[in-house]
Amino acid sequence: MAVDHETIFTMEATPVKFGRGASAEAGWELRRLGVRRAMLVTDPGVAAMGYPERIKTAIESEGIDVVLYDRTRVEPTADSFQDAVDYALEHEVDGFVSVGGGSSIDTAKAADLVCTHPAPVMDYVNPPVGRGRKPPAPLKPHLAVPTTSGTGSEATTVAVLDIPDLRVKTGISHRYLRPTQAIVDPDLTRSLPPEVTSSTGLDVVCHAAESFLSKPFDTRQRPDSPDDRPPYQGANPVADVWSAKALEFGGRYLRRAVADDQDLEARGFMMLAATMAGVGFGSAGVHIPHSCAYPIASVKHAYQPPGYPDDHPFVPHGHSVIVTSPAAFRFTYDAMPERHHTVAELLAGGPVRDPGPDTLPNLLRELMRDVRAPRGVAELGYGEDDIPDLVAGALKQERLLAVAPKPVTEHDIRHIIAASMTNW
Ligand SMILES: [Fe+2]
Repeated sequence: MAVDHETIFTMEATPVKFGRGASAEAGWELRRLGVRRAMLVTDPGVAAMGYPERIKTAIESEGIDVVLYDRTRVEPTADSFQDAVDYALEHEVDGFVSVGGGSSIDTAKAADLVCTHPAPVMDYVNPPVGRGRKPPAPLKPHLAVPTTSGTGSEATTVAVLDIPDLRVKTGISHRYLRPTQAIVDPDLTRSLPPEVTSSTGLDVVCHAAESFLSKPFDTRQRPDSPDDRPPYQGANPVADVWSAKALEFGGRYLRRAVADDQDLEARGFMMLAATMAGVGFGSAGVHIPHSCAYPIASVKHAYQPPGYPDDHPFVPHGHSVIVTSPAAFRFTYDAMPERHHTVAELLAGGPVRDPGPDTLPNLLRELMRDVRAPRGVAELGYGEDDIPDLVAGALKQERLLAVAPKPVTEHDIRHIIAASMTNW
């Protein structure tokens, strides 16, 4: 029987305003979007750097009221999302501005969703953990102002949350969650600790590499209705453009950005790369390294990352992702060798000699070493005994594994995690 293949892909992107000083135009953007009373969502660490207060003043100078919410958790949960929702409802806001990393942007997405279309947070969470309910209509305006060069959350449809009881990370994903506008201002990454730049930058590299190496969109089965077309559609010609450029920038600028917190050229290009990779993976999707990253971040909380607030141990997202990437791309190599060579060349900034299955994994290991990433899963607090839990957690990420370029079995994931215990 002939399989009815997908013939359509969609491409959506957040409008982006980029450049040094751009965050001073936050009020102008909110006024353009018709916002009169905005909730500014940030976290205590970013608030301490003074940027949110400066942006709040810039917004107020346009005659817009701002209520400050600075209680974002670094790893949001359903409860922490609900706390932001309650705050938004209590203050009757008609728009959102997020200032911070992925946690703040994601918290604003969730607060916007639930205060616009009230329902329990878990109703909106992806199945099988939640009920996968879809919002019936667009949300209130959301202006996203990232302060790290990483998650690309300003460009995506996803809000990630931790479910501590189930020891699993999952998300809410729907196109209406994509922010209305982003302002990307390299001045806001000044004085970001090198560990944070390292983790967020390696996340960017993985977003772009996983997207570029995802299963081509036209090998999926055609959905019954447009409603059923997954947000992660698989590799397509437009996503490739964004992912490729992000890989090139990651290869060229990440080392410099980590080495010098005043190198605003390198930091600016990494911010741009983060947003571009966000556009790419928002369309194509991420798969094996991100599937493994979720349990690595949630099965144990034993790792106290240097350079981050020391109030609770956790694994920074980018580092949880990158540690399994060499083994993951060694595994996927035979599904699309040429595309693996292309990713290697983009990262290397030129032709690589005698490309083969280990070329890309080795380039990733070199990059990890140069930006002082953890050496592997073991350094993050895990031993051989933990492998079954990590494998089980990764296998729960069905939505992600579906876009891997070849079928992934339990045996394959176990092999990838075991091979990632230490990368050098
Ligand atoms: Fe990521």
